[in-house]
Formats: sequence, structure tokens, C-alpha cells
Amino acid sequence: MKNERHAIITGASTGIGFATAEIWLKTGNSATFIGRRANALQNTKRRLVSSGVLENQIDLFPGDAANPEQMTKLFSGWKRPHLDLIVQAAGQRFTGSGENTNLENWKSSMESNLFSAVVLPPLALPLLRKSAKENRSPCIVNIANALAMKASAGMIAYSTAKAALAHYTKCLALELANEGIRVNAVAPAAVDTEMLRSGANDAAYENFKKDLAAYHPLGRIGTAEEIARGILFLAAPENSWITGTVLNIDGGYSLK
Ligand SMILES: NC(=O)c1ccc[n+]([C@@H]2O[C@H](COP(=O)([O-])OP(=O)(O)OC[C@H]3O[C@@H](n4cnc5c(N)ncnc54)[C@H](OP(=O)(O)O)[C@@H]3O)[C@@H](O)[C@H]2O)c1
Repeated sequence: MKNERHAIITGASTGIGFATAEIWLKTGNSATFIGRRANALQNTKRRLVSSGVLENQIDLFPGDAANPEQMTKLFSGWKRPHLDLIVQAAGQRFTGSGENTNLENWKSSMESNLFSAVVLPPLALPLLRKSAKENRSPCIVNIANALAMKASAGMIAYSTAKAALAHYTKCLALELANEGIRVNAVAPAAVDTEMLRSGANDAAYENFKKDLAAYHPLGRIGTAEEIARGILFLAAPENSWITGTVLNIDGGYSLK
């Protein structure tokens, strides 16, 4: 397709990453999906192809976004003519207080929620610079969390890693602004995905969602599609003057 743009999407098999990939591909673009479970990536590709997306719109790269050796291989074997967008949705929720979170859990949360977003950008810079030179408005969009900005009890390692990710977003935006490469983030509050469900059965999950709804002034939790639309708003070339923004998409959660 003539105006096709290419994205790397981490965490594309499920949830927010999947919702972003679906809209992105259905508007005629192409993407490389990254996730650790190769079978989940393959199932996701099959599902999208059976809904009308073309096989050649999707490349799969099974791997850990926080692993520099694996991500280096992605670029040494790169075949697409462009890279215009990186959506970093890989992440994992960690519960626990400051008192009962041990150092191993702190490291795991940092690895999942911060390091999974700092490895790809420097490796991708040559391709992003090429995109900028060709006026394709390259952009990186990270997925932070409303808890990055507002303190909460019981998810200290997760919230702290997401706060670091939000700050990383701003620092990198400043470093890359003069090259025309934009860096933004979204900060969702609770979103209806498998991560939120955390293995709960249907009845328990319905009750959990009702409890969570009360924390959001708009009276409900969000959907993955609502977050995807915010991500793609930040990525759109029409919005090429937005950089260093951490966009709340949170049903008003941050207002209280
Ligand atoms: N759901 C919420 O309430 C909510 C709210 C605010 C922010 N967020 C953030 O939104 C992002 C997406 O979450 P989600 O709700 O869509 O959850 P999800 O469905 O569990 O998606 C997370 C995805 O990330 C992938 N992943 C995890 N670690 C990875 C790694 N190191 N390398 C590559 N892929 C990795 C997982 O696939 P594999 O296991 O196959 O790797 C999975 O596909 C996360 O960063 C999360 O923290 C979620």
C-alpha cells in the first residue's frame, strides 16, 4: 500500500497491544509483533488474518522486549523499508506493599515494566531517523499507568516502575526532539484485559470490575480499544507537534 506505515508493537498478542494492532492494521498499515509466547503471537496473527488483514501486513518476532541480545537480532534481520512507530505495551502487573515486596520482585517489575521499554528505542534509532528524514513523523508510544502519577497502596513495585517509564518518556522525548522523533505515553487507569483479570473466575472478576468502577468518576473501567485510540492519536502524523506528553486515559481517575 502506498502510504503504508510500519510499526513495532510489543505485547501485541493480547489486551491493549492487540487492540492497537487491530486498528493500525485495519487502516492499511503493517506491523511487527513482539511477545514472549510464540504460539500466542501465531494465534493472534491467524485471528487477524481471518478477519481480513493480509498475511504480509504482519511479521512475528517471538522474544523478550527487555532482552538486548534478542532485540538486536530483530534489527540485524530487518527487511521492512520503514519503521515509523514503536508501541511498547509489554508489561506485567505486580502487587505487594513496600513492606512485603522483596528485591527479586522489585527487579522483576523493573524488568517487565521499564526495561521492556528502554531496549528497543536505541536499537531502532537508525530506522526512526530515516523515517524522520522522509517526513513520516516517527513516534514511540509507551504504556504507563495512572498509578505512575498518583500514589496508591499495594502495588508499589508496579507503580514505581510505571512512574520511571513516564519520566523516561519525557527525557527521551527531549533528547530526540531536534531529530523530529516524537516520544509520548498513555497513562490508563483500570482497563478490562487479562492482566486486570489476573486469573480470577467470571463471578469474582465481575465483582472486582464493579468495585474498581467506583474509583473512576465516569463510573466504569476502560476498554482496550479506548486506550488504543489514544495511542494512535499520539502516533498520528497530523499530531506531529505532540511530544513528551503522558496522556491520561482514565475515566477521570486522576481527578480524585
Ligand atoms: N489492564 C490495565 O488495567 C492496565 C492499566 C494501565 C496500564 N496497563 C499497561 O498496559 C500494557 C498492556 O497491558 P494489558 O492490560 O493489555 O495486559 P496483557 O493482556 O497481559 O498484555 C501484556 C502483553 O505483554 C506481553 N509481554 C509482557 N512482558 C513482555 C516482555 N518482557 N517482552 C515482550 N512481551 C511481553 C505479554 O505477552 P507474553 O506473555 O507472550 O510476552 C502480553 O501480550 C502493560 O504495560 C500494562 O502495564 C494496563
